[in-house]
Amino acid sequence: MRTGKAGCRLLLLLFFIFFSADGRCIFPAIFNFGDSNSDTGGFWAAFPAQRPPYGMTYFKKPAGRASDGRAAIDFLAQAVGLPFLSPYLQSIGSNFSHGANFATAASTVLLPNTSLFVTGISPFSLAIQLNQMKDLRRRVYQMGPQDILPSKGAFEKALYTFDIGQNDFTSKLVAIGIKGVQQYLPQVADQIAWTIKDLYDNIGGRKFMVFNLAPIGCFPAFLTLLPHNNSDLDVYGCLISYNNAVDDYNVLLKETLQQIRSQLPNANVIYVDTNSVKLELSRHPRNHGLKYGTKSCCGCGGGAYNYDPLVFCGNTKEINGVNLTATACGDPQNYVSWDGIHATEAVNRIITRAVLRGSLFDPPFPLARLCDLNPID
Ligand SMILES: *[C@@H]1O[C@H](CO)[C@@H](O)[C@H](O)[C@H]1NC(C)=O
Ligand SMILES: *[C@@H]1O[C@H](CO)[C@@H](O)[C@H](O)[C@H]1NC(C)=O
Ligand SMILES: *[C@@H]1O[C@H](CO)[C@@H](O)[C@H](O)[C@H]1NC(C)=O
Ligand SMILES: *[C@@H]1O[C@H](CO)[C@@H](O)[C@H](O)[C@H]1NC(C)=O
Repeated sequence: MRTGKAGCRLLLLLFFIFFSADGRCIFPAIFNFGDSNSDTGGFWAAFPAQRPPYGMTYFKKPAGRASDGRAAIDFLAQAVGLPFLSPYLQSIGSNFSHGANFATAASTVLLPNTSLFVTGISPFSLAIQLNQMKDLRRRVYQMGPQDILPSKGAFEKALYTFDIGQNDFTSKLVAIGIKGVQQYLPQVADQIAWTIKDLYDNIGGRKFMVFNLAPIGCFPAFLTLLPHNNSDLDVYGCLISYNNAVDDYNVLLKETLQQIRSQLPNANVIYVDTNSVKLELSRHPRNHGLKYGTKSCCGCGGGAYNYDPLVFCGNTKEINGVNLTATACGDPQNYVSWDGIHATEAVNRIITRAVLRGSLFDPPFPLARLCDLNPID
């Protein structure tokens, strides 16, 4: 048997590919596509600056997350032994050696029709995020090994995550209603599937996780904004029709992913049902160490929802001659909702723990066997 130097080098190489310092994990990188739920600073690199009290719990200052602390994607990276993902749009201090985050707040799957300043929708829709991903790979191939870039091999072994679609669902809900939105939701699911196929064909991606849509009918913002009466609320105080419409979309998304799975024989295309966890937390906050399911921590106006659509978290507005400021509660760890729309760090931690347990995956995916999962704090 030949045991030359080349053999040793190969073994060493394999060792470094499969074993990181923190433990064993097959993923050398995560590439994330998303909206505010998984933004780690992309939006605020383009449209500065985020205001306090964002970031107050963990970072002690605004850190580009739409939360008081870490986003679920931060916890996921930590669990598989990777550093927090740098936003692709952030030029200073970023390090993409273990992945990149293309998510920006207010991003949609479908191309936005008009400017951010008119609609409140980010120009960095999924198609743009995919372009950025391709640009990153092109540069890695052009430049060769670089300290702050992933290796060429990382693109095939990486985990590709999608947490996007919420803004396609919600941004026109008030204007055109559920029926209006449902007209283009099949396009939303198709576009996600098409993007996965493109990453498979042109980037070499093989592991994909798609997070489903949250029960927005339990969000303080929509409970305040969307027209309803008491008969529209379930026993937990969530909007029945809107949560049902989210469920319909999630079924559609799951079926669409099932269809492309058959076209991508060597891939794992995993639908991740985080909706069920978020729903459970909104319904039974006290069973999970929380107190408030449908009330916003950071907001103004008090009441059942503590949400005022005119004064978003961290902002001050003069209304009828009075300055109103949306400030944070003192105990975000007791809330499901941070700012009326986005989850608190406490909830992001619970969601990620549920993801890591594997029971939310369809089809089943042995994450815990592929990585020595780090406990998340
Ligand atoms: C974009 O605008 C056009 C014309 O105003 C409209 O028909 C179309 O539905 C809009 N697309 C989306 C995704 O909102
Ligand atoms: C980027 O991250 C990698 C991996 O953690 C590290 O080895 C490298 O030194 C970092 N580069 C810079 C410039 O921080
Ligand atoms: C409650 O609202 C729904 C539509 O949002 C409407 O069909 C229904 O008649 C309303 N019920 C009452 C009691 O106002
Ligand atoms: C509200 O705050 C602004 C900015 O600090 C200030 O210019 C304005 O006079 C305040 N209005 C009232 C009614 O206090």
